[in-house]
Amino acid sequence: MKILLENIKELVQVIDKPVLLRVGKEMSSVKTIKNAFLIIRDEVIEEYGKMEELKDKYTDDDYLVEIDCTNRLVYPCFCDPHTHLVFSHSRENEFVQRIAGLTYEEIARQGGGILNSAKKLHEISEEELYDLSIDRIIEIIKMGTGAVEIKSGYGLNTEDELKMLRVIRRIKETAPICVRSTFLGAHAVPEKYKSNPSEYVDIIINEMIPQVAAEELADFIDVFCDKGFFTPEDTERILMAGMKYGLRPKIHANELGNTGGVEVGVKYNALSVDHLEYLNDEEIQVLKGTETMPTILPGAAFFLNLPLSPVRKMIDAGLPVALASDFNPGSSPSGNMSFISALGSIKYQMTPAEVINATTLNSAYAMGVSDCLGSITKGKIANLFITSEVEGIASLPYFFGSNLVETVIINGVIQSF
Ligand code: NIG
Ligand code: FE
Repeated sequence: MKILLENIKELVQVIDKPVLLRVGKEMSSVKTIKNAFLIIRDEVIEEYGKMEELKDKYTDDDYLVEIDCTNRLVYPCFCDPHTHLVFSHSRENEFVQRIAGLTYEEIARQGGGILNSAKKLHEISEEELYDLSIDRIIEIIKMGTGAVEIKSGYGLNTEDELKMLRVIRRIKETAPICVRSTFLGAHAVPEKYKSNPSEYVDIIINEMIPQVAAEELADFIDVFCDKGFFTPEDTERILMAGMKYGLRPKIHANELGNTGGVEVGVKYNALSVDHLEYLNDEEIQVLKGTETMPTILPGAAFFLNLPLSPVRKMIDAGLPVALASDFNPGSSPSGNMSFISALGSIKYQMTPAEVINATTLNSAYAMGVSDCLGSITKGKIANLFITSEVEGIASLPYFFGSNLVETVIINGVIQSF
């Protein structure tokens, strides 16, 4: 199968010599080719260049499909490296409680929040959970996402954590996009272990992790290392146990305070530390020069009215930054990466180019797939989207709330919805 995209107004995020991530100032560079073509053979990007070169170099006319992209931009699909999109019910009641003045932490302390989602997830079958989740996958593909990381963490007992992870595995097998799975048994302490949380940590270590590993259900391990959830000491124990089975950490840190999560993440060479609403200068220095991607979740800060991560300071200090949706029913009920891009520019002062690097290449890195996704590079997997008629790369963050993604191609296949 061969597809030719022609007359592309601007081919965005072209990286000729592959790199795995961009840090600091490098994030302000995004190469685009104006009036471009791109050829897909089977599932990979085979060639691209200026339209003038197409006629000279490629006389072969056996394209099965030709798509005219006049006035349209072509992007590599978004990679979304942090979601909890396998869940059973939404939580509008808590949304209303927050409008009335309760905080996310207060709701959690009263048994709402993550514990509420765990109760609901316990009640539905694996089949129903899969059906609900695959609909969300289709929704995010329509909005241009071509790779997604999904966490467990609404099970909070061995059986239900495994149920969630099996659903994620089935999504991996059936969804067209690239999926990575993260075990997050340490998302909240269940009610019955409240007086002795380390008993629950023992269950995670001795019971859950070995079974998750035996069934090869996870690529990564996560802990919600924060005020009122898991301590840095709990986190270390859990990460060490997971790493014995080859699960690389990707952790939730510093959403509710400067609680030591960044240091633990870096100590255990986490692939990413995520949230970082609270991040001081020392923690910025701790992250510098490491292999850990700071990943910001603007949807959660927006939805919960949290302080904003100091993204400008981070980039200016030479750190890389990735953006993710955090799609979940409690703190960010949206997987719309265009909206996340808009928040990046509007709330965090990221330029359109920085946002593109943070939602494609760097976000691919944060889920371990930037060798094959996240840029327009020969030999990479052809996960691309074509926009509607737009002005340029500032249009996506500018038209916040709109979906300017018109056509999505995944593994070289044009998706129909
Ligand atoms: O990343 N902070 C912890 N976990 C999720 C929220 C989960 C929930 O409220 O259901 C997050 O924001
Ligand atoms: Fe999260």
